Amino acid sequence: SGLHTAAVAKGKLYFGSATDNSELTDTAYLTQLNNTDDFGQITPGNSQKWDTIEPTQNQFSYTKGDVIANLAKANDQKLRCHTLVWHSQLPSWVSSGTWTNATLIAAMKNHITNVVTHYKGDCYAWDVVNEALNEDGSYRDSIFYQTIGPAYIPIAFAAAAAADPDVKLYYNDYNIESSGSKAMAAQNIVKLVQSYGAKIDGVGLQAHFIVGSTPSQSSQASVLSAYAALGVEIAYTELDIRMTLPSTDALLAQQKTDYTNTVAACVAEKSCIGITIWDWTDKYSWVPNTFSGQGAACPWDENYAKKPAYTGILSALGGT
Ligand code: G3I
Repeated sequence: SGLHTAAVAKGKLYFGSATDNSELTDTAYLTQLNNTDDFGQITPGNSQKWDTIEPTQNQFSYTKGDVIANLAKANDQKLRCHTLVWHSQLPSWVSSGTWTNATLIAAMKNHITNVVTHYKGDCYAWDVVNEALNEDGSYRDSIFYQTIGPAYIPIAFAAAAAADPDVKLYYNDYNIESSGSKAMAAQNIVKLVQSYGAKIDGVGLQAHFIVGSTPSQSSQASVLSAYAALGVEIAYTELDIRMTLPSTDALLAQQKTDYTNTVAACVAEKSCIGITIWDWTDKYSWVPNTFSGQGAACPWDENYAKKPAYTGILSALGGT
């Protein structure tokens, strides 16, 4: 079987991949993305972000996001919608605007209401707030935090729930996959939203890991159960495991171990509902553009051959 088929047999909702509009003209790429034996879910890597959808205030542009949403529909794949409120990939009218508490709340609510309403019925989940935390667990000093304070988070969740009461609402971040200050702060965000009486359904663990320093299965398992204890589900939302290039047999073997341990942590936790890799082929990974000299983070190589990591994921999902 493939990865999604095996994940479903283990009681998960999906195994999926991120993708991006520019990649869809590559027919060999598209053929594999459409393979629902491996991928029962897709996430747009860029095309639902604020700078794409609302580049000018109150002018909404859904063309690129709709391409991915329509592809998911055509393939009968779930769509994870990404992302509503994030400090990055903001249009300059937001990031460099002159705001008061009231005007930024109004602009943020207007964005959320429009976007969630447009995609109502299309998304399994929305990443409502993305990356609100610093590594030490303090709040990131975004325009939203500076202007509104921590209340921007529950206000965003309440606006999303009002626009679509059925979609799952997630807080999504990286380096919250094992215990520490940042994972504790993510738990506090769940409690903060709940304390405002707003709905939060899930925590998204991005899981942008490094070969050889990926958290162990047991340390991931203990933090998964801490999130689950708050009454929310968990998803691995952006999994990839990068290495310093060039890739060697030893690094590929360690990468397989690291993928296996991560997937096994999700399999073992009932509240962990699915896993998304942040694109499936090294050809289109974000990693080399951000971390010079690093890459080879995906389960398929740049020529679309399956790497040892693929077999590790499949076996952790109980497939053969
Ligand atoms: O579209 C332009 C293109 O016109 C231009 O020629 C080119 C030149 O640099 O840039 C293109 O835009 C790039 C865009 O990806 C689309 O490819 C941006 O420069 C680049 O910064 C952007 O990177 C994205 C990154 O988020 C931005 O922060 C990655 O593709 C995307 O995979 C990545 O995804 C994030 C998640 O949303 C949140 N978690 C971390 C994750 C990895 O950084």
